[in-house]
Amino acid sequence: MVNSSLKPTFLRDARAPARCALITGATGGIGEAFARTLPPETSLVLTGRDAAKLDAMGETFLGRATTVVADLATAEGIETVAQAAEAAGCDLLINNAGIGKSGNFLDVPLADQVATVRVDVEAFLALTHRIVPGMLARAERDGTRAGLINVASSLAFLPVPTLATYAAAKAFMLSFTESFAAEMGDRAIDVLVACPGATRTAFADRAGYRGRTMPGAMSPDKVAAATLAALGRQSTVVIGPASAAAFAPVALARSAFGKAFVRANRVLERIRDD
Ligand SMILES: NC(=O)c1ccc[n+]([C@@H]2O[C@H](COP(=O)([O-])OP(=O)(O)OC[C@H]3O[C@@H](n4cnc5c(N)ncnc54)[C@H](OP(=O)(O)O)[C@@H]3O)[C@@H](O)[C@H]2O)c1
Repeated sequence: MVNSSLKPTFLRDARAPARCALITGATGGIGEAFARTLPPETSLVLTGRDAAKLDAMGETFLGRATTVVADLATAEGIETVAQAAEAAGCDLLINNAGIGKSGNFLDVPLADQVATVRVDVEAFLALTHRIVPGMLARAERDGTRAGLINVASSLAFLPVPTLATYAAAKAFMLSFTESFAAEMGDRAIDVLVACPGATRTAFADRAGYRGRTMPGAMSPDKVAAATLAALGRQSTVVIGPASAAAFAPVALARSAFGKAFVRANRVLERIRDD
């Protein structure tokens, strides 16, 4: 059998649907779109801080969803979510929750900058470290595949004045996930970082972005569908025509470097062991 990671993208088999997906930031925007887009056979663990919205989503996805109110800016919130994912036996982790505050760095309160790092960096790192080992063990035991999706941004490829902390946090997520995808190369898990361009959600309002609606902003459903379609086929997906034209070739080169690095390390280890 040909190793599926060696097949060209268009020849790879579609993944079997996940049995259970944890979606962070499920109460709106792209996270809610993931919940709508995943197939009905996938049960859901939905999390966010908005208890009323989570109750409503519990009704919408009746019999299919567990809801967890948790603040991912806190260690307790992360632990609560990790325990819920493990109890449900999740095999797909979607680290989607994210925030940012617009403005020159010195004009935005430090508390907002630190909250951005907690939610956009610490939380996804901690959830990945807590949840992936169990997902991998179950997948390897059952002969299935686990999945990890980290939702970064096309801004991860750029320095972005007035969104310096947010762009740096997303650059961290991009770089980390590219490295992790290469490390996990032949394990039973598909790892993907999604880099969407501007998307019509509450994000810009919450960030205090006073500009006009970004021209060409995408629907969150389009972002969720493109991301889920890419899982198992590639390790980075850049979504949106302008972003893809600018950054997809960069993403390909970075991914090739990650794979080459792992191969070179293996050769060096073999030489050392001989
Ligand atoms: N919209 C865009 O243009 C765009 C473009 C590229 C990438 N992204 C990324 O896409 C992801 C989803 O954002 P979105 O556009 O869908 O924005 P959104 O509508 O504002 O959704 C953000 C989600 O994150 C959750 N969240 C925020 N702070 C949290 C905290 N402390 N603890 C737990 N959950 C928290 C929110 O839930 P609660 O309010 O219930 O806590 C909400 O469900 C983010 O990572 C964002 O950076 C967005």
